[in-house]
Amino acid sequence: MKNDYIPFPSKILEVVRHTSIEYTFRMEYHGKVEPGQFFEVSIPKYGEAPISVSGIGDGFIDLTIRRVGKVTNEVFERYAGDTLLLRGPYGNGFDLSNYVGKDLIIMAGGTGLSPVRGVVDHFARHPEQRGHMTLIAGFKTPHDILFREDLKRWENSMDVILTVDCAEEDVACHVGLVTQYIPQIQLGNVEDTVAIVVGPPAMMRFSVQGLRNIGLPEENIWISQERKMCCGLGKCGHCKVGDTYICLDGPVFNYTKGKFLVD
Ligand SMILES: Cc1cc2nc3c(=O)[nH]c(=O)nc-3n(C[C@H](O)[C@H](O)[C@H](O)COP(=O)(O)OP(=O)(O)OC[C@H]3O[C@@H](n4cnc5c(N)ncnc54)[C@H](O)[C@@H]3O)c2cc1C
Ligand code: FES
Repeated sequence: MKNDYIPFPSKILEVVRHTSIEYTFRMEYHGKVEPGQFFEVSIPKYGEAPISVSGIGDGFIDLTIRRVGKVTNEVFERYAGDTLLLRGPYGNGFDLSNYVGKDLIIMAGGTGLSPVRGVVDHFARHPEQRGHMTLIAGFKTPHDILFREDLKRWENSMDVILTVDCAEEDVACHVGLVTQYIPQIQLGNVEDTVAIVVGPPAMMRFSVQGLRNIGLPEENIWISQERKMCCGLGKCGHCKVGDTYICLDGPVFNYTKGKFLVD
């Protein structure tokens, strides 16, 4: 019988440094996976950490990891050619059909851009599949900006509003919270406009409120939730809120359900 807890080895193909504590690890992977799903990354003796897929390609997935603790510290000691252990993919991911043919707003805070990067990239490459698209991406400072090259490239096919909470020097982006830029969104018919919001809980709460204030119905908004997880596959109950397993039923939720799960 197949044991779902047994991880498989995956080779690190490339490491891209974004900031001093955030790197993307390109991992060898041949299999089906959707943007917004996650893998459990493990290192024997150190443990496991759930990490979202930030990119999907032929024979690889990208995992963008922030160095914060036991497992991630150890991952940062690995280089291209080394191996990590993975389990997954887990979770539901973003169902792109929810956004096809609609005007699309994506609001991402910090590493929240990572799980939604695959969605942005898909609709950047296939503008014929959606209407007008706006990405508002916010980071704490200019040093924290992730995926700079992608942000530049995405500007060619959508409105990209890049903003930092604070900046000591002149910066080539906006300054202020993502919510401040909601009035700049070129808004069409709100019934035909959908939004994805991913980031820290407070950012998600205020961003959703801002989108509701400009008329978006809550059923047109999706969020992605991060919770403390253990098994990642609906067995241990660690991530359970009420009768919802974040690891299994999420981490992507329509806001009509997600609003009961936001911290
Ligand atoms: C669905 C999902 C997707 C995720 N996607 C990503 C992703 O794409 N990229 C990413 O970088 N992260 C992601 N995370 C978060 C990541 O899984 C956590 O940051 C994970 O805990 C890291 O594991 P770690 O062992 O390195 O850190 P841990 O050692 O578990 O530390 C985690 C945090 O707890 C604090 N901490 C640790 N020990 C203590 C203590 N004794 N007292 C007080 N505080 C303490 C640390 O300072 C740190 O802030 C995701 C989480 C979920 C649930
Ligand atoms: S993490 Fe075990 S049930 Fe969700």
